[in-house]
Amino acid sequence: MTSSKTGKKRALSGIQPTHDSFHLGNFLGAVKQWVELQETHDAFYCVVDLHALTSEPNPKDLHKRTLASLAQLVALGIDPNKSTLFVQSHVTAHNQLGWVMECLTGIGEASRMTQFKDKSQKMGDDRVGVGVFTYPMLMAADVLLYQADQVPVGEDQRQHLELTRDLCQRFNSRYGQTFTMPEPYILKAGAKIFDLQDPTSKMSKSSESQSGVIELLDAPEVNRKKIKSAMTDTGREIKFDEKEKPGISNLLTIFAALSGNSVAEIESEFDGKGYGDFKGAVADVVVDYLAPIREKTLELLNDRSHLESIMRTGAEKAAEVADQTLKATYDALGLIPRA
Ligand code: TYM
Repeated sequence: MTSSKTGKKRALSGIQPTHDSFHLGNFLGAVKQWVELQETHDAFYCVVDLHALTSEPNPKDLHKRTLASLAQLVALGIDPNKSTLFVQSHVTAHNQLGWVMECLTGIGEASRMTQFKDKSQKMGDDRVGVGVFTYPMLMAADVLLYQADQVPVGEDQRQHLELTRDLCQRFNSRYGQTFTMPEPYILKAGAKIFDLQDPTSKMSKSSESQSGVIELLDAPEVNRKKIKSAMTDTGREIKFDEKEKPGISNLLTIFAALSGNSVAEIESEFDGKGYGDFKGAVADVVVDYLAPIREKTLELLNDRSHLESIMRTGAEKAAEVADQTLKATYDALGLIPRA
């Protein structure tokens, strides 16, 4: 479906404000594509603070990290004049449609979500919150409320989007055409950036050790050191081979995505050179790329009224679309509109 106002297709995505800084995986797997899609799509991007509640954050941290997330998104290139940038809890329709999605989902299919299974196994049934279980239904509501055609995310969100598509199809066939069927927008390269110290696990905000995680807001010398001590593989060649050389392949992916050069070009540039030279060059690219982003984020965080105005405008624009979809959903379900 195309948006009636702009004639463009819709894109929607979200990111959790769970940490002080985003990491390189968030940027290369998702936000970089958000920035590109805002040029061609009617784009909606949200900081999903309600989803972050599932990790039971300290209120002060949540508050601070929500603002830091907004500032980072703008610093990374999300232009609030091109995209609708907003905070999820500012648009109440998300919770309301979330409930409808919960009523549509089977316990069995929700139990099969790997992120839920991992968390509940780690924490145990008595400690893991019901919100972790219903998390994907709130995410389905985020997507369907905006009639999104495309959802730019990293590979780890694919299963959640499959559920979203199932719920979309189920609702439309039971109650009549109401929601646009969303497509995942997942790139081949960069959809899964790996931990620098354990290049078989994804780079993750919740990793036990942060030594393999490149945080966008870390000081340049910290990130340089992390890259220089990244785990490499046996052999000496700089060659992309995910199976035999996961560490070097991960660094090649990062280098290529940030420099705009192809992996083949980088391989030939480093033909005959060693891992040390290569890691030094990756560190330069990463540090040079992130320095202005860090600076811009800190600048924005000092301008609270500007961030507030972005949030206010974004919430108004988002609510206009979301409320319309919610109304159509309630009508389709037979709920009586308030007189
Ligand atoms: P979150 O906050 O965990 O991550 C934000 C985005 O970053 C991507 N990502 C990665 N990509 C590549 N390599 C990595 N190592 C890596 N780590 C994270 C994620 O795939 C994601 O795109 N459930 C979502 C948030 C969400 C959402 C939505 C997304 C809530 N509602 C609606 C899309 C549409 C999440 O936890 O993302």
